[in-house]
Amino acid sequence: MSGELYGTVSEGHTETGCIKDPAPEPLRKPRLERVMEMTIPQIMEKMIAFSDGNIHDIDHLIRVWTYARTIGELEKLDRDTQWVVEAAAITHDIACPLCREKYGNTLGRHQEEEGATLVRAFLSDSGIPEETVSRIAFLVGHHHTFTDVDGIDYQILLEADYIANATESAYSRHNVENAMQKIMRTESGKRLLKSIIRI
Ligand SMILES: [Fe+2]
Repeated sequence: MSGELYGTVSEGHTETGCIKDPAPEPLRKPRLERVMEMTIPQIMEKMIAFSDGNIHDIDHLIRVWTYARTIGELEKLDRDTQWVVEAAAITHDIACPLCREKYGNTLGRHQEEEGATLVRAFLSDSGIPEETVSRIAFLVGHHHTFTDVDGIDYQILLEADYIANATESAYSRHNVENAMQKIMRTESGKRLLKSIIRI
């Protein structure tokens, strides 16, 4: 760009005698780009740091994220929903450290009571839109509730967490067969559970 065309700045004035133009307003980003202001790898890195060296917690969240991501991709979710599923999977057990300290256990109802507030604080400086943070907080606050499942994001989180828990805790064949009837609803989740547990 030449100085002739655009003027040169000198003590707040251009050669044309005008005060320097104010910086243009940033263009409003489309919703998806705003959602992506904090990336999934950044959430993963932050959650691993939050887990403070608890290898069980870290392994579990990575496992749940992997299953959730896989099911979401196989079910062909739109990009926004896929992002919410993955963010919720990574953060779903965020209340476990607090619950161990406060209640001496990680019962589902305690996690649900504490989780939504914690994940809101965790994502507060992320630049993620409020409606998206609210949905993630709702999912984290309901991930032990198997009734009134109101979306595919919720369903996939339940399925991914069940598969991870079934392998980590060696659930009985009866338990898994029951889950196949009562919890699993996506075809991808059912296929995964079947091939992992070999029922
Ligand atoms: Fe979990």
